Amino acid sequence: MKLWSGRFTKQTDKLTEDFNASIAFDSRMYTQDIRGSIAHASMLAKQGIISFAEGEQIIAALKEIEQEIADGRLEFIVDAEDVHMNIETFLTAKIGDVGKKLHTARSRNDQVALDIRMYLNDEIDNIRELLLETEAALLQVSSEHLETIMPGYTHLQKAQPITLAHHLMAYFEMLRRDVERLDDCRKRVLAMPLGSGALAATGFNLDRDCVREQLGFDYLTRNSLDGVSDRDFAIEFCSFASILMMHLSRFSEEIILWSSDEFSFVQLDDGFSTGSSIMPQKKNPDIAELVRGKTGRVYGDLVTLLTVMKSLPLAYNKDMQEDKEALFDAIDTVKKCLLVFAPMLKTCRFQKENMAAGARRGFTNATDLADYLVSKGLPFRDAHAVVGQAVLYCIEQQKVLEEMELATFKTFSDRIEADVYEHLDIMNCVAKRSIPGGPAPETVKKAQLEAAQWLERMQDVHK
Ligand code: ARG
Repeated sequence: MKLWSGRFTKQTDKLTEDFNASIAFDSRMYTQDIRGSIAHASMLAKQGIISFAEGEQIIAALKEIEQEIADGRLEFIVDAEDVHMNIETFLTAKIGDVGKKLHTARSRNDQVALDIRMYLNDEIDNIRELLLETEAALLQVSSEHLETIMPGYTHLQKAQPITLAHHLMAYFEMLRRDVERLDDCRKRVLAMPLGSGALAATGFNLDRDCVREQLGFDYLTRNSLDGVSDRDFAIEFCSFASILMMHLSRFSEEIILWSSDEFSFVQLDDGFSTGSSIMPQKKNPDIAELVRGKTGRVYGDLVTLLTVMKSLPLAYNKDMQEDKEALFDAIDTVKKCLLVFAPMLKTCRFQKENMAAGARRGFTNATDLADYLVSKGLPFRDAHAVVGQAVLYCIEQQKVLEEMELATFKTFSDRIEADVYEHLDIMNCVAKRSIPGGPAPETVKKAQLEAAQWLERMQDVHK
């Protein structure tokens, strides 16, 4: 019999039952549901709404149920619809009528809001840790490549020389913002909704703050209607997850490109690539491709949540049961991607010679020649035109700039002297870009030091 069947005279249609049930996917919140119920029961007892003995009996039984579920001794049933009613059913089966008192002054509407927040908060811990591990991997690999010269690109055309360290630290910065976004999202997750009831709170004298404290929430939701119908925190999480996946997809794309024969900048470890069933020579960057591909489903999760919530009248609507699969999918996907990403990165073998050779082609020091002319008194726009002419000449001669004789240089501008060659040296081009934010090894080293300190601070703070 359904827990809510009082006013019904007919059984639920089997099709309705299957369609309506969420146990297939919300059972994963059973520990959170039980923790929430324990806090609720102990508060009910403290407030004299149930007796102490009843409270203790309920709490002991809930703890047993948690263990029995973990051991696989209790099985959820579709009949009981969702995780909340499954656990309540287990409870009354165990302790009889006393179990029926647990749901006093509570609705599944505030209960589910509580459970999702607790579940998400626990998963934020896990994801935060994985994110920080990825940051540590980026920092470690970056610190090994302070002098590894590579071409920097715009429009995927060679632009100016940089170092691999600097390139990797760009991703460090992206993921740093992701950590900050995650921490910020958590501020809204940690609002305690229990006591909102179905929508209009309750006439019982609940001590909401006592529940809040037991469950480790930071503050109480401030409006009962909003308490049961707010899913902003889940949307914010999916938005964080989408931005993070976008960052990982950009990095993945570069790894895919770099591991192609055309670039030959990186060799992926055998453990983090796969072969082809037909082409014996193949080694494919599947991990990076899958991360890139899974970005799409996380965006999908965000759009699912935004769309589910769009135009919903206050307060709870059953539509909101659709929040969980999208949220869980985003959580699972982000975790899976982060889990493989750091080890893939740490086992990459960067082909330094190819990177450096790449930086020496494509006139990546052309801007430096223009800057050199500026230092000799030529206005930048004129210098730009002079160097353009020199580049064109070199393309025709199949040369790089630094291969030109001084006499040839002077045909483009008589301001050019013998010291031009050191200004065109690729390593010097990088080294002189030493202002804050620049790729010069000494500057990137400082950036890495700051990054390491930030990482340490983040590892210390738990939330
Ligand atoms: N399984 C439901 C959900 O996930 C729990 C809340 C149901 N509330 C209700 N009034 N039917 O949203």
